[in-house]
Amino acid sequence: MHFAIHSDTRGIADAVLIPLGTAEDQRAAAWQWLTHRVDVPVASLEAEFDGAYKSMLVLFGKDGKRYVLAGIGDDTAPHRIVRALRYLVLRKRKNLGPGVAVWLGHVGADELEAWAGAVAYGMGLGLYRQELLKTDARTPFPLESEEAALQIVHPRAGDELREVLQLQWRLAQAMHRTFDLVNTPSNIKTPAWLAEQAEAAGRRASFEVRVFDEDAIEAMGLHALRAVGQGSAHPPRFIVMEYRPAGARKKVALVGKGITFDTGGVSIKPATNMHLMKSDMGGAAAVIGTMEAAAILGLPVHLVGVVPAAENAVDGRALKPGDVIRSYSGKTIEVIDTDAEGRLVLADGLAWAVRRHHPDLMIDLATLTGSCIRALGTEAAGLFTSNDTLADALFRAGMATGERLWRLPLWDDYMEYLKTDVADIKNLGDKPMAGAITAAKFLEFFTDAHPAWAHLDIAGTALANGDFSRDRAATGFGVRLLCRWLEELA
Ligand code: BES
Ligand code: ZN
Ligand code: ZN
Repeated sequence: MHFAIHSDTRGIADAVLIPLGTAEDQRAAAWQWLTHRVDVPVASLEAEFDGAYKSMLVLFGKDGKRYVLAGIGDDTAPHRIVRALRYLVLRKRKNLGPGVAVWLGHVGADELEAWAGAVAYGMGLGLYRQELLKTDARTPFPLESEEAALQIVHPRAGDELREVLQLQWRLAQAMHRTFDLVNTPSNIKTPAWLAEQAEAAGRRASFEVRVFDEDAIEAMGLHALRAVGQGSAHPPRFIVMEYRPAGARKKVALVGKGITFDTGGVSIKPATNMHLMKSDMGGAAAVIGTMEAAAILGLPVHLVGVVPAAENAVDGRALKPGDVIRSYSGKTIEVIDTDAEGRLVLADGLAWAVRRHHPDLMIDLATLTGSCIRALGTEAAGLFTSNDTLADALFRAGMATGERLWRLPLWDDYMEYLKTDVADIKNLGDKPMAGAITAAKFLEFFTDAHPAWAHLDIAGTALANGDFSRDRAATGFGVRLLCRWLEELA
């Protein structure tokens, strides 16, 4: 992809995109610019195009160019621009030639960088192909070709904007890989495969990746991870990534649940929708994706990414309800329900991260509970922390990126639900309520009371139905949120 900045329309591509919100001033500026170019009265433009999200109007210009109006909606925050351009390119990419010019003449100079970056990122996401495993040969879209060009048209744009476009395009390509991690089916996606993907990300973006196999997991004392993986033909892996930029003042550990498939184990899940459990490594994908994006952005924060990866399967060696297992922390766990496996592997990931790395801050992400989906639906992920400053910073990053979080309590009263006579803790609350909170309390037990730890339950947000896919597909939830939070932190 080539990027170019044009101050007027001389020499630009034949397809001109005009992203517009519903705001009066944006649309008025566009109509004024269009009057010399198309033979349509302003009243008709007003009537035919209102700028609502997903709305579109294609006009043929007197100059032979195609002018494509693309609606963003009422809110033109960057993540809304991203969504609108992604939708447009996804739905229209077959019709887009190798050159696309985007007119942003209605945008003030102070906002231009944000708009142009969001346009490039959204268009880059729009080119994502989910159909990797379809067998019908498919020729690349012109916009994917080597000579494809993205041009920004603005009267006062400087050439430095090109770097912004390049960077955002690269981030979009990295996000494609994050989507792939989640969308890949579990006959391919084993713990070893996930580890290889982390290694590939490390090579692309230059961060360090170490992978520990079954024997190493045993030797390191990651007993809970080993126990969850023991019923699978695909043995577990413990993946550790490290990005260490010069001048970093803070060290952040990111821990992601990496269950490559969750059958539930002996406490087996119902068949309906079980196929979606290939996405039970959405937390791991967010961590790997954030490592890559942070390295691309050059964020000045020392990051340690930890992914305990296992398949929760059923066979003669699988964990059974009632088993008592050890964990890296030394604490014992009574396994009441083998389907509450995420908290088991995270118990080891969190304890290992705290004891081996002493991070200043630690965030874990996990598709952890159906309970969280029942509480918040698919509109927000659950946020759990006892640290108000951290809660506030994460919440704000969520609102700014559209990856919203909503806080739920972590009061000690909930710890009562997890008490047992036979071990230090049990993995399922004894009341059929507050499941997302008791899961978070379970995790907290393995953080050595870390003062700046937060848990994000992304069970409802890792997959989305709708605008960008037919059946539920990866959202990459967490990557943009964490990058934003890390930027603010640094
Ligand atoms: N991976 C699931 C949680 C989940 C459910 C994620 C639906 C995405 C969509 C997790 O391992 C699980 O099975 N949780 C159980 C916990 C219960 C046994 C305490 C749940 O939420 O039902
Ligand atoms: Zn489960
Ligand atoms: Zn699970």
